[in-house]
Amino acid sequence: MSSAAEDFDHRQVSRNHHHTHELPGGLFLRRARTSDVKGIEALVAPLAGERILLGKDTVTYFESLQEFWLVVDPQPDGSEVLAGCGALHIIWSDLAEARTVATSPDYRGRGVGKAIIRQLLADAREIGVDRVFCLTFETGFFGSLGFEPIKGIPVSPEVYIELLHSTDEGVAEFLDLARVKPNTLGNSRMIKYL
Ligand SMILES: CC(C)(COP(=O)(O)OP(=O)(O)OC[C@H]1O[C@@H](n2cnc3c(N)ncnc32)[C@H](O)[C@@H]1OP(=O)(O)O)[C@@H](O)C(=O)NCCC(=O)NCCS
Repeated sequence: MSSAAEDFDHRQVSRNHHHTHELPGGLFLRRARTSDVKGIEALVAPLAGERILLGKDTVTYFESLQEFWLVVDPQPDGSEVLAGCGALHIIWSDLAEARTVATSPDYRGRGVGKAIIRQLLADAREIGVDRVFCLTFETGFFGSLGFEPIKGIPVSPEVYIELLHSTDEGVAEFLDLARVKPNTLGNSRMIKYL
C-alpha cells in the first residue's frame, strides 16, 4: 500500500532545494547525502589506486559528508549518475583545502570540475576563509581557475606545529609528513587567494 509520504517526489523536492543548482547540459550541482557515499567511493577508488587522490575509509566519507558537493546527471528512470564530486576541508582560520575533486571519465571536459570548484570557493568565502589550497597533478585545471603554484607549506611555523595535532590524512599530506611522502610525490601545491 502506498502512502502519501511515499508518493511524494523527493527528487523533485531536492532539486528545488536551495542547495541544488542546475548546470548547463541538464546536470545538477547539489550537496551530498548519505546514499551518495557508495557512488563517491566508486568514483574515487580508481584514482586512489593510481595515487592521484587520497582514498578514505567509508566511515571517513560519512564523517566528512557535509563538506561534499556533487554533480549528478538525472536519468529518465529517476536514478542519477554521479558525474563529479569535491569537498572543502577547513584547515585553519584563513585556510581550507579543496580535496577529493574528481570528475567521472564519462563527464570530463563539460565544466563539471569547474562548477564544483566554484562552489567550494563560494563556501570558503561564506565560512570566512581567504585562501584555498590544493595538492594536485592537474595544474592546468586548477591554473585555469585562478590557483597559483606555491613552494612549501603556506603556514607559519607556529601554525605548522598546531596542525601536527591533526589526525586527518589530508592534513598530513598538506604538511608533507614523511609517512605520506609517497602520496605527495610529483604533486604540485597550488593556492588561490579569495
Ligand atoms: C581535474 C578534473 C576534476 C577536471 O574535471 P573536468 O570536469 O574535466 O574539468 P572542467 O571540464 O570543469 O574544466 C574546467 C576548465 O579547466 C580546463 N582543464 C581541465 N582539465 C585540464 C587539464 N588537464 N589541463 C589544462 N586545462 C584543463 C578546461 O579546459 C576548462 O577550461 P575552460 O573553462 O576555459 O573551458 C578531472 O580531470 C579529474 O577528475 N582528475 C582526476 C582527479 C584529480 O586530479 N583531482 C584534483 C586533485 S583534488
